[in-house]
Amino acid sequence: MLTLKNIHKIYNKGKANEFEALKGIDFKIDDGELVAIIGKSGAGKSTLLHILACIDSYESGEYHIDDTLVKKLNERKLADIRNRKIGMVMQDFALVEDFSCIENVLLPLDFSHKKGADKKEIAMKALKAVEMDSMAKKPVSKLSGGQKQRVAIARAIVNKPSIILADEPTGALDTKTSAEIMKLFHTLNNQGKTIIIVTHDLEIAKQCDRIIEISDGKIV
Ligand SMILES: Nc1ncnc2c1ncn2[C@@H]1O[C@H](COP(=O)(O)OP(=O)(O)OP(=O)(O)O)[C@@H](O)[C@H]1O
Ligand SMILES: [Mg+2]
Repeated sequence: MLTLKNIHKIYNKGKANEFEALKGIDFKIDDGELVAIIGKSGAGKSTLLHILACIDSYESGEYHIDDTLVKKLNERKLADIRNRKIGMVMQDFALVEDFSCIENVLLPLDFSHKKGADKKEIAMKALKAVEMDSMAKKPVSKLSGGQKQRVAIARAIVNKPSIILADEPTGALDTKTSAEIMKLFHTLNNQGKTIIIVTHDLEIAKQCDRIIEISDGKIV
């Protein structure tokens, strides 16, 4: 379970350009839920997702993953949670364009102690789950937007996280490809994974169990 209590996020704190991007966010997300976070551009969706993913900090409030208070952890423990529990699909994919699909999916596995051959097998399984195994050796730079999105999802699931966070996973895709990507998230959700999708597309949001709307850093 993810629990946020009165979370405030301030960018450039104490400087002239100080900006409060989150102004007291409260919610709970149960294990196995499929949740959409919606809101206008600049509302604070990515900021919120980055805090949920433990890749960004917050100024005040409390964020718990199960019983663990995220704020008190040191870097090593945070990295451990990120690696084991959370799979993140970034808004711009954040893939290494010159690398092949499998090389990208192998990246999060580099921190594990598994043998090289085992890692390849695990990466291929993740690519297979998103139906990209046949293109494993193709450079990411030669893929379509939908294919890149699939590889980004494969990379997010390769460590078998229980939580998957996706920032605008259908933002750059046509309707048909969006539907395919959503089908993939539904399959992962049916396997018991908690999934949180940031989107500005209400049709995508309606396919989730619950919609959390944020506006100007607050829940509405
Ligand atoms: N690193 C940063 N430094 C300063 N301000 C930032 C930073 N990142 C985001 N902001 C500001 O915080 C606000 C929320 O940004 P955020 O990226 O969370 O919005 P968003 O809802 O994801 O928007 P979009 O739909 O365009 O992706 C915006 O006003 C943005 O300008
Ligand atoms: Mg964003």
